[in-house]
Amino acid sequence: MTASIAGIGAYVPETIVTNDDLAKIVETSDEWITSRTGIRERRISTGEETSDLAAEAARRALAAAGVKAEDLDLIIMGTSSPDCNYPSGACEVQAKIGAVNAAAFDVSAACAGFIFAMNIVQGFFKSGIYQTALVIGAETLSKVTDWTDRSTCVLFGDGAGAAVLKNEKTGILDMLMGSDGTKGEALMCKSRTLGNFLTGTKPEIGFMTMDGQEVFRFAVKRVPESIETLMKRNHMEKDDIRYYVLHQANERIVEAVARRLKEPMDKFPMTIAKYGNTSTASIPLLLNDMVEQGMLKDGDKIIMSGFGAGMTWGAVLLEWKQSV
Ligand code: UT7
Repeated sequence: MTASIAGIGAYVPETIVTNDDLAKIVETSDEWITSRTGIRERRISTGEETSDLAAEAARRALAAAGVKAEDLDLIIMGTSSPDCNYPSGACEVQAKIGAVNAAAFDVSAACAGFIFAMNIVQGFFKSGIYQTALVIGAETLSKVTDWTDRSTCVLFGDGAGAAVLKNEKTGILDMLMGSDGTKGEALMCKSRTLGNFLTGTKPEIGFMTMDGQEVFRFAVKRVPESIETLMKRNHMEKDDIRYYVLHQANERIVEAVARRLKEPMDKFPMTIAKYGNTSTASIPLLLNDMVEQGMLKDGDKIIMSGFGAGMTWGAVLLEWKQSV
């Protein structure tokens, strides 16, 4: 038995912020952003919290799967911008959707969070502990973005995606996760700084900082490596893989991965132009688009690959089953 996607759902805030909108607040241009990243616009929340986006994506995934919230055994949410340090985002979603029988917790693996969550669910399914799970990737990165820093503020967006997983015969064929904490400073968002009655300082709140080129190099190395590892140990050739569903960080990263794998771009669907980089939400948002467009058929093999702060990376090889 293995984890199978029974239903997908997604939700993004209504407000669209274009590159031209950003050119009014920092020194940038539509031309620079589009040519360096492929991003044309992103959604930015004007009131909804991460758990609001996540709960709506979860409701849609449950509806698509035909599963009731009370039938969920487990909720795992990947997020790096939860509403609170605690309770977890997953617990907040649990309360919002009424998943009274589920254990709920968050995973902190940044842009690889959704893939890490799927890996964890697979562990529970393989051991027979749980049968039905909800995995969510949800972010309101707009609240940790430094809106005066043009090197980061043009990249990110808010959104959420969710998938209901069931323990069935067809689904995840293999998966992997990896981390390299020594490169953590390349992409970082400090929590509150230390400050208390002994230090005599007040805690300050951190914003995201990034060494873009370091992250770029890391992604272009680790993503093809992960994909090739999964194909090799499952005796698959490139022709066996229908789509590569990559974390949407930068169109140029996707193109570089395609070149390294010697695969055509039409096997790499993208949503980066309309959502920007939504971190852990990007893979389920993309999957949701693919399902809506009828791109996936029974038996299709896809590889999902996430990478990001930590540094973290993970990949899932999945055989699609037309239950969604
Ligand atoms: O989920 C993972 C999250 N992170 C990532 O995926 C980031 C991966 N890295 C990237 O996507 C790219 O490195 C960036 C898009 C962040 C940057 O692209 P780049 O081609 O590596 O540009 P750069 O950092 O080398 O900057 C080139 C120039 C610099 O000016 P000078 O020094 O050449 O005069 C920057 O100051 O572009 C300048 N620049 C900008 N100009 C206009 C940086 N940001 C902007 C901007 N608008 N928004």
